[in-house]
Formats: sequence, C-alpha cells, structure tokens
Amino acid sequence: MSRKLRFGLIGLGEIAYSSTGHVFRQTANAEMIVGMDPLPDIAASYEAAFGIPCSTNIEDVLNNPDVDAVVISTPHNLHVPLGIQAARAGKHVIVEKPMATTLDDADALIAACKNAGVLCSSKEGSVRYQPATAKAKALIAQGAIGELMATEVTGASNKPPSYWTGGYTGRVQTSWRKSKSESGGGVLIMNYIYDFYRLRYITGQEIERVFAEFGTYRTPVEVEDFITLTMRYTNGAIGTWMASSCAPGASKAGARGTKASDNRIFGTAGQIVFDNNDLLVYTDNEVEGLTPGEWAQISFPQQWGDQAYVVYFDKFAEAVFAGREPDIPCEEGRKTLEVLLAAYKSGETHQPVTLGEVDGKQ
Ligand SMILES: NC(=O)c1ccc[n+]([C@@H]2O[C@H](COP(=O)([O-])OP(=O)(O)OC[C@H]3O[C@@H](n4cnc5c(N)ncnc54)[C@H](O)[C@@H]3O)[C@@H](O)[C@H]2O)c1
Repeated sequence: MSRKLRFGLIGLGEIAYSSTGHVFRQTANAEMIVGMDPLPDIAASYEAAFGIPCSTNIEDVLNNPDVDAVVISTPHNLHVPLGIQAARAGKHVIVEKPMATTLDDADALIAACKNAGVLCSSKEGSVRYQPATAKAKALIAQGAIGELMATEVTGASNKPPSYWTGGYTGRVQTSWRKSKSESGGGVLIMNYIYDFYRLRYITGQEIERVFAEFGTYRTPVEVEDFITLTMRYTNGAIGTWMASSCAPGASKAGARGTKASDNRIFGTAGQIVFDNNDLLVYTDNEVEGLTPGEWAQISFPQQWGDQAYVVYFDKFAEAVFAGREPDIPCEEGRKTLEVLLAAYKSGETHQPVTLGEVDGKQ
C-alpha cells in the first residue's frame, strides 16, 4: 500500500488513551495524525503521550486536508452528531460502539455518510477479527454444530462506584455513563453489544423477537445494572441472556460461574463454548481437526487483546483505498443496535418486542 489512511481521533478519554493510541502504533495501513477533545488537560496529556498535535477545537481536525477519516470515541449520544459533522467535512467515519442511541440517529448518520460519499463503520464489529470468533464461524460453516438450536450468554461483572464517574481508569471525570439519555442504557448496550454482534456474525442468523426484564439494583444510576432476556432467531432458534454490572464477587479472583462473558452455542450436532481465551467444541460430525463424539479445547493467545482493533483499522483502510464498503458498515451497527433497543423497549413495556417495532426515537 503506497500510503496509510490518516485518522483524526475525536474524544481522547479512556478508550482513546488506554487502547486506540497504542493500536495505531501497530497498524500497517492506518495512522493517527491528530486528536481533539474539548477538555484542555485531556488534549494536552494525549499530545504528550502519543506525540500527535491535539486540539480542543473540532474544526482543527475536520478542516485539516491531511485527515482522511475520524474515529469518534465520545459519550454515546455524541457519536451521531459528530459523525454527521465529520461526514459533511468529507471524512470517513468510524464510531465507537454503540453507533447511536436511537434508530433515527443511526439512520441519520448512515444517510449523511452516503450523501457525502464517505464510509461509515461501527467498531463493535471488530470482534469478528478475534481469533476465537473467526474460528467459531469457520467451524459452524463446516457443519460442526449442525443446525443452530439455541444460544446462551452469561456475563457478570461488579463495576466499582468510581466506574460511573470516571470509567475504569478515572482519566476523565464525567457522568455520561449514569445517564440514560447520554449512554442509551447500562450493561447491555455498554458491554454486551459485542456478544450480540458476535452471535449474529458467527451464526449468520438475525434475531427477530426479544423479551427482556431488567432493573437497577445496586447502583445509583438511571441505567440498568442487571438484565435478562430471551430471544427468537429468524431460523427458529432460541436464546437466553443474562448480564450484570453489579454482581458481588464477580470481578474477584477465584470467582466461579461468572466469567466476564460466556457465549455458548447449541446446534443439532454439537456445541461451541467461548471459555475466556479458549473455544470448547463438541461435534458429532466429521470436521477437520476434531474427533466426532469428543470435546476439544482450542486455545488462542490474544482473544481480548487490542489485536482485533489493529486488524479492524487496517481492514477499514483497505476498504477506503479499494473504494469498497468496509467489512462492518454502519448498517451492521444499526442491526445490532435495534436488538438492544428492542430489549429495552420490552423491559419497559413488559411485552415481547418484534424487531421492526422499535420506535426510531426511543
Ligand atoms: N473505556 C473503555 O474501556 C471502552 C472500551 C470500548 C469502547 N468504549 C467506547 O468508547 C467511547 C468513549 O468511551 P470512554 O470510556 O473513552 O469515555 P470517556 O468519558 O473516558 O471519554 C470520552 C471523551 O469524549 C470527550 N468529549 C465529550 N464531548 C466531546 C465533543 N463534543 N467532542 C469531542 N470529544 C468530546 C470527553 O471530554 C472525553 O475525554 C464510548 O462509545 C464507549 O462505549 C470504551
């Protein structure tokens, strides 16, 4: 590739500082050349840490002709207005997850990018580049589990009070994570959006109906800290979900039965379990590398590392240079978002919600 795609980073808080800045040191096709954050000390500390000019004025990024694309890593409700501003300035747009907090907003960003002729991608899709995810998809494609019957996701964490005002690192003191209107929701939209995308991606099935119950039990916030849901896939398969950000003991060493995220996929001929960095696979079928009728453990070194983000940015750059859609266009982000919003609507109305019935403004 003759040159790298040049990114401006908008929002220089926790993810930008603890992950994205380091990721761009490893990308082959993409580089980060400027940053922007309205907080002067945050912009200054980012500039010092990563050696790129950082401003408090977004025009310095959007009017910079050297910037090809932006990554927007701000509170959730700002992804769309900032993304639209960037698209109108002719910049390709990557938004952190979730791409929006309402479907109307998601549609507005997709339309703005189309009108401007720029690409748009939602970053939770990077999960597809995790080796375990890719392997699970390949095994399913080879028939390892037969027909999809059911999925189960369990995830429990115990976020400390400081998380709600400063994230995991305290880099930025802020209240957006507690606010329904700014975050769009709690643990489901914040953390388990990756798992929804992963299940859609590896099974090739869409979710068509959900029924959810949620509550806020141990956290002084507007958003849910515990949620359960059941769902139906378009092929008739079913699924359950349980996610918490307030489970006592969940984050302690020695915790049992409360992995950060445990995805299990049941088919007519086998099972796949995501077990931390490993895949546990059982199949009745003849599949290369597996013994029918036996469980196998397949280990991966870096499932949760930043490596998937490196591939994600490089692939996005490849798509721009090739003039084709990215692997994970914002339409994908919208589909995942719709499931999450359907779950919230269900929890509020105490009724099952079929996708397509979510009010765009909700
Ligand atoms: N923190 C994580 O571990 C993590 C992991 C994956 C994804 N994400 C996602 O990254 C995004 C940001 O999360 P975070 O944890 O870094 O939050 P954060 O609060 O630490 O950082 C957000 C930054 O956005 C800045 N900002 C606010 N308004 C702005 C504006 N108008 N223009 C530009 N910048 C503005 C804030 O000043 C702040 O520095 C969210 O979408 C989140 O879901 C976070």
